[in-house]
Amino acid sequence: MTNSGTVLAMASDHGGFEMKEFIKAKLIEEGYEIKDFGTNSTESVDYPDIIHPAAKAINDGEIERGIIFCGSGNGAQMTANSYPNVRAGLCWTVEQAKLIRQHNNANIISIPGRFVSLDEGLAMAEAFLNTDFEGGRHLKRVEKINQIIK
Ligand code: RB5
Repeated sequence: MTNSGTVLAMASDHGGFEMKEFIKAKLIEEGYEIKDFGTNSTESVDYPDIIHPAAKAINDGEIERGIIFCGSGNGAQMTANSYPNVRAGLCWTVEQAKLIRQHNNANIISIPGRFVSLDEGLAMAEAFLNTDFEGGRHLKRVEKINQIIK
């Protein structure tokens, strides 16, 4: 199968749990291997507790790409972006999911489980996985992201 052996990190809080499970099942059908960092039910949890381990695995190079969720997508994205080697983009549309790859070389997509449909979420995840970074003028911009002013 085309995606066989490609491991993806997935993580959500309770607000993204249903969508994580839906997308996980579809991606497994497509041949991906999923490392699921939780959560495992709709019981309320604190999104940083779940997102940190997934973001660390991406940051440390153990896993190349990740798909994360919370209700709005914001808390998950903010948590993930505290790691220097993570570029997590919050997306609401398929076009945005393509752009975070083409222009930002994102290695994580954050999807708002409470604001888009399951099918929209899946389409965004697939667009994220199937779009390449354009490089060129975007490379120098991406390289400047971590150049904070001290
Ligand atoms: C949980 O109620 C909610 O705050 C969380 O899923 C997320 O939207 C946080 O940014």
